[in-house]
Amino acid sequence: MAIAQLIAGNWKMFKGPAQARSFVAALADATVEQAESLDIVVCPPAVSLAAAVDGAGASRTQIFGQNVHWAESGAFTGEVSGSMLRELGVSGAIVGHSERRQLFGETDETTAARMVAARGVGLQVIACVGELEAEREAGETERVLERQVGAIAEAADGLEGLVVAYEPIWAIGTGRTATLEQAQEAHAVIKRLLPVPVLYGGSVKPDNAAELLALPDVDGALVGGASLDVDSFAAVCTAGARAA
Ligand code: 13P
Repeated sequence: MAIAQLIAGNWKMFKGPAQARSFVAALADATVEQAESLDIVVCPPAVSLAAAVDGAGASRTQIFGQNVHWAESGAFTGEVSGSMLRELGVSGAIVGHSERRQLFGETDETTAARMVAARGVGLQVIACVGELEAEREAGETERVLERQVGAIAEAADGLEGLVVAYEPIWAIGTGRTATLEQAQEAHAVIKRLLPVPVLYGGSVKPDNAAELLALPDVDGALVGGASLDVDSFAAVCTAGARAA
């Protein structure tokens, strides 16, 4: 039976509008094996969203924001609301990425509030969770996931358009990935708490994507560094198509 896969590229603070536009146009031309049940998403920085939507045109690539505020509008310097994203033609947003949690004070509560607001205006959401290395070493991974996923599950009104990304923080940008056993175990914990598709993130590359995506509870990947190059991102997408 075909299992739907979602491959999402999180560009973080890379690629201005011109690069974003040419990347999505090139991705549409790149050889990605076709699979009915493969969704492809790229998440450019806020200033590049309009160019990416325009460049993606009628291709299969969907454009998501990297964050979204919980209010519709207001005195929130530097933030962007869900309806503003919708106005650009953006179809979803990441919330609670570990870099937001670690560097910008994001909490389980603000992550949940952002998710609720985004879903309220019809955006899809990729809600990120994951443990620190010290938490894993202390045997606290499951407890941390229960807390983080619990906050999302409690606030979520329905599950349609909601995806969780498991990103062990020690695997992000380090070249280290979770072992297949660690990834499968964490994904199973998350799915028990919240029965939605769960993406794996943390040093996903063309050469490790296939084995991660073949795990029973892995429904796709959230890709950082390897999503910045069209060929490597297309190769991860092809691995997703084969797993779908
Ligand atoms: P890397 O793939 O660069 O490790 O980044 C993962 C990530 O944080 C995606 O959101």
